[in-house]
Amino acid sequence: MMENKFGTQWKLRFYALVVGLLIVSNMTTFMFTTRVLVAQHPNGLHHLTGSLNDDQNVTKVLEETTAIPDTKTIFVITPTHSCVTQKIDLNSMCHTLMSVQKVIWIIIEDSQKPTDLVTKLIQRCNVEIVHLAIPTSSDYRAEKGKPAHSKSRGVEQRNAGLNWLRENYSSHNCSGVFYFGDDDNKYDLRLFEDIHNTQIASVWKVAWVGGLKWEGPTCQNGRATSWHSVFETELREFPLDMAGFAVHLCQLMKHPEARIGVNIHGDRSKGGHLETDFLQHFANKSSVECRGSESETYVWHSKTSSPSLYGEKNGHSSKSVETR
Ligand SMILES: *[C@@H]1O[C@H](CO)[C@@H](O)[C@H](O)[C@H]1NC(C)=O
Ligand SMILES: *[C@@H]1O[C@H](CO)[C@@H](O)[C@H](O)[C@H]1NC(C)=O
Ligand SMILES: *[C@@H]1O[C@H](CO)[C@@H](O)[C@H](O)[C@H]1NC(C)=O
Ligand SMILES: *[C@@H]1O[C@H](CO)[C@@H](O)[C@H](O)[C@H]1NC(C)=O
Repeated sequence: MMENKFGTQWKLRFYALVVGLLIVSNMTTFMFTTRVLVAQHPNGLHHLTGSLNDDQNVTKVLEETTAIPDTKTIFVITPTHSCVTQKIDLNSMCHTLMSVQKVIWIIIEDSQKPTDLVTKLIQRCNVEIVHLAIPTSSDYRAEKGKPAHSKSRGVEQRNAGLNWLRENYSSHNCSGVFYFGDDDNKYDLRLFEDIHNTQIASVWKVAWVGGLKWEGPTCQNGRATSWHSVFETELREFPLDMAGFAVHLCQLMKHPEARIGVNIHGDRSKGGHLETDFLQHFANKSSVECRGSESETYVWHSKTSSPSLYGEKNGHSSKSVETR
């Protein structure tokens, strides 16, 4: 009887020891995992810090790695217009940019004034955002009966983004890079490192544009050696997509004449020439910085497909799922 009682006590102590060891080893695993996360994703640090505040040691590790010497800001200019997929496109773009450090997201709506849908979405998005609105003028609106893409889209909205940059910054505080990031693309976070490293103007390939798996430059030692394109390749100095380049903010101050939709001679851009005409204000084929990966793509023009909503015509329309 006595022996049995002692046996039980020892067993209990043994179990307590095992449970204790398990807890400690779990904690170690947790801390190790966190360190790995930090090492692999230097961009997302400030968000991690917020959610792990109670563990002081983890916070300390985070603070140590957060400090990056370069203070350049990335300005992402995104034109947006009312359509069924607008909300989810902006939402997914928000999630991408939440993982990027020192980013300011300039959203320009194609509307008279900021809409409720976009305003509400922005309030929930943990990214520094500038919210602008400018309606497309009749000049750039597709004629009746012609498809929307018969006219260049987002021209006035992108220029409103550039104007905002010129109004709020000057040649004295232009430590930044701007990028035209449309909300119907998908992004690999490594793209933002390329954007961040831009000295004057950078280019890279974009997947699923121009009728190809990818369109854009092939790089050698940081310079573009050839261009992969099947659309007016000879007529375009830079045969690439809007998502295929970034420009240093100081360049915008240096070239006050540079606007989307106008070429270096001051003439209006032809269809499909917006990108090359704009970029030519800052660089030429031999001076442009060639970035990205040789074997991988960092940005895809994936486009969100519009859902089939034919049933809505029969009066089933529901306000609980806002689409526009
Ligand atoms: C946290 O760090 C302090 C000081 O570096 C150390 O004394 C302590 O043991 C650490 N705690 C854990 C749980 O690792
Ligand atoms: C940017 O410039 C505009 C126009 O000058 C001004 O209204 C706005 O307050 C500025 N915004 C910031 C954040 O400085
Ligand atoms: C940049 O500098 C200009 C003056 O050169 C000033 O008006 C502006 O407020 C500054 N902008 C920021 C964001 O500090
Ligand atoms: C390209 O630009 C660089 C730097 O601005 C300049 O030195 C060079 O002459 C230009 N090349 C051509 C072919 O225009």
